[in-house]
Amino acid sequence: MTDAANTYSGPQRILSGMQPTGQLHLGNYLGALVNWVALQERGAECFYCIVDLHAITMPHDPKALPDAVRSAAAAYMAAGVDPSRSAVFAQSAVPAHAELAWIFQCVARLGWLERMTQFKDKTGKDAERASVGIFTYPVLQAADILVYKATHVPVGEDQKQHLELARDIAARFMREFDCEGAFPLPEPVIQGPGARIMSLRDGTKKMSKSDESDASRINLVDDADTIARKIKKAKTDPEPLPETAEGLQNRPEAANLAGIYAALAGTSLETVLTEFGGKGFGVFKPALADLAVAKLAPISAEYRRLTGDPAEIDRILQRGAERARAVAAPVIAEAKKIVGFWG
Ligand code: AMP
Ligand code: TRP
Repeated sequence: MTDAANTYSGPQRILSGMQPTGQLHLGNYLGALVNWVALQERGAECFYCIVDLHAITMPHDPKALPDAVRSAAAAYMAAGVDPSRSAVFAQSAVPAHAELAWIFQCVARLGWLERMTQFKDKTGKDAERASVGIFTYPVLQAADILVYKATHVPVGEDQKQHLELARDIAARFMREFDCEGAFPLPEPVIQGPGARIMSLRDGTKKMSKSDESDASRINLVDDADTIARKIKKAKTDPEPLPETAEGLQNRPEAANLAGIYAALAGTSLETVLTEFGGKGFGVFKPALADLAVAKLAPISAEYRRLTGDPAEIDRILQRGAERARAVAAPVIAEAKKIVGFWG
């Protein structure tokens, strides 16, 4: 990890993104979107993109991709992202991401990328057959962030290593080309009990879009009955909830459900355990289901309303892309000049 000092003095800017693959789930919402909205509400300048360039690092259906982008944009907005304040756009609509990614590929070191755990997780033993894009994926992510000189990046805990890489790339670029202060060293915003939501079927596995079992996750668009059923069936242990957080050690499923309750209620784990400590899951699960339905029902209703008007989503994505391109243009021009490109 870089130990370079942050000498950047530009304005605070927020950037984050998600892949347009599969339905967004409770982990995406509590780990990332809740913080996206909180930063927007604090008045920060926010850029929220749908990373379709990243989506093609894995096999995908070209016919389904545009609608998947619209669907992700609708989910962002249903969760509270306001497109009149935050730029909502598709990554592929701003070519500067790919241009800066190339420059950064020549700055990042092979060894840095070889250490990325997400690459290892995604490709397993089959790394030789993986696309080169999946290997350089985190370099493109660094470009996504730095092409706006974003200072803060709200993400779930699984993205921590990619953010460290983005800092390393920024620091090395500035050292190599003697341009200290040209880029910020972007800071991850990973906070709250929702930073790492686990599968409902296995408390040691991350809740994920790619899990074959739909029962492992709560999708933002699940209806009330489905949410209640998934929570009722969620794996637990036979003990009642403990009174303190230490009591959750070695109880991954109990810790996960209590954490989900805390994140949904916008409170701490301790507060949840003060209320439910000593009570069994027969009491806790229905309370959690009620809370989840109350919080998610308006989101899924709004999502359905928004996806009913794809032309409006396209207008929003166009406007978002225009704003994003305007901010990225001077940054990519500066980076090209720094590395000595002609013109
Ligand atoms: P992905 O679904 O991998 O495209 O992730 C999009 C965003 O959601 C990233 O900021 C992730 O860190 C976050 N995220 C994904 N899964 C989880 C999870 N199980 N818990 C918390 N955050 C998550
Ligand atoms: N890699 C992120 C994920 O899988 C998605 C992403 C792409 C991203 N570019 C980004 C997140 C830039 C934050 C900032 O979740």
